[in-house]
Amino acid sequence: MIENKNRKFFIETYGCQMNFSDSEIVASILSNEGFEASDDLLTADIVLLNTCSIREHAEDRVRKRLHYFRSLKKKNPGLTIGLLGCMAERTKTALMEVEQLLDLIAGPDSYRHLPELLGKVDSGQKAIDIILSADETYADINPIRLDSNGVSAFISIMRGCENFCSYCVVPYARGQERSRDPKSVIREAKDIFLQGFREVTLLGQNVNSYCWNEGAETMNFPGLLEQIAGLDSQLRVRFATSHPKDLGSELIKTIASYPNICKAIHLPVQSGSNAVLDKMNRKYSREEYLEKIRAIRSLIPGCTISTDIITGFCDETESDHKQTLELMQEAGFDSAFTFKYSERPQTLAADHYKDNVPAGVKERRLREIIELQHELSSASNHRDLGEIFEVLIEGESKRSDKQYFGRNSQNKVVVFLKTAQKPGEYVNVQVKRVTSATLIGEAV
Ligand code: 5AD
Ligand code: SF4
Repeated sequence: MIENKNRKFFIETYGCQMNFSDSEIVASILSNEGFEASDDLLTADIVLLNTCSIREHAEDRVRKRLHYFRSLKKKNPGLTIGLLGCMAERTKTALMEVEQLLDLIAGPDSYRHLPELLGKVDSGQKAIDIILSADETYADINPIRLDSNGVSAFISIMRGCENFCSYCVVPYARGQERSRDPKSVIREAKDIFLQGFREVTLLGQNVNSYCWNEGAETMNFPGLLEQIAGLDSQLRVRFATSHPKDLGSELIKTIASYPNICKAIHLPVQSGSNAVLDKMNRKYSREEYLEKIRAIRSLIPGCTISTDIITGFCDETESDHKQTLELMQEAGFDSAFTFKYSERPQTLAADHYKDNVPAGVKERRLREIIELQHELSSASNHRDLGEIFEVLIEGESKRSDKQYFGRNSQNKVVVFLKTAQKPGEYVNVQVKRVTSATLIGEAV
């Protein structure tokens, strides 16, 4: 077995924030075994690709990257190439056996075994572990913050998903839902605050169903959020993602009552048509969704609401599409992530429905959705003109070394001329100009 000391590993991450958080767990596990994290792909001994399979496009990008990695291996035959994450289960045969692109595959619940798996590769074998677990939460692992600005960090509070939306591969790729021990979450949040971080984002596929039982005691998501917010008023708390069916009044009240719980809620609606929502197995109606939006707007004034929308799902008609546009107007989303439906193997939709909206129609509907969202985002930013926001400074603006950028509680990016404060500190900024993506202001 090769001595691990000084062997350098490089991790490239695709997909969601959960995946970025997982890469930090992987980096911690490998560092504890003597491997060294590197940000230089060309001098690394081990290259790991943490993958996403939510849309076909994400998988295509990974395949392209793997071909590039294989070209590196021609120059450096000792290079180990590994695939981690959501694509592990689905693509094992194609990528490892048929295309011979990989030495190692580890699924999202197998990261503790990475040192052993790498040992197996060193002894000339292919290594694979894609078993999903019912209880792995990596609670005791202290993640190494990769690509960190030293100001904001992610903390995973649960794993897996059991909602089985008919289009979605996550329940198959990441397994059963399980919550992490709140004590370990609180410890991690305290620890990063002491390291100087001033913002944490609590992550899960559906944080609203977070639930931990110990003896007679139960902790739900609003309870956990309160505990983290109570650590220090200088620590901002965010969370993602919420399923509309589970977002209740207790959570809304908790957000409203702590100034350091950020006033920004991501609430994926997916479609504005009841027929499509039903087919997607979302378990709420358009009316119920809009009722939640009204509750948020009335109990948390100034809260921004963002969403995810899929266009062109199976059998989606022009009238369904119009209902999505109308719902967007009515909800007045501040921002949105928008996607064309992409059929995923194993899912209920792939097995039972036809992906029958023509590509050109999906394209046009997506364009209409993006155009409308552009107007809504721009209107939302215009409403902020003249307002004063508390901004947490994240770093120097990309455009100019004379400017800082940061975010307000509503999760909008704010750019302003540098002040005496440093990244990680708060400053009040008055908004003077806006674009559809950014607020531009002056410290006051
Ligand atoms: N096709 C297109 N978009 C999808 N999403 C999830 N599955 C698919 C799919 N098969 C989108 C949803 C989800 C976001 C993370 O990705 O909008 O909220
Ligand atoms: Fe992609 Fe979903 Fe996996 Fe995140 S959980 S990496 S979004 S497939």
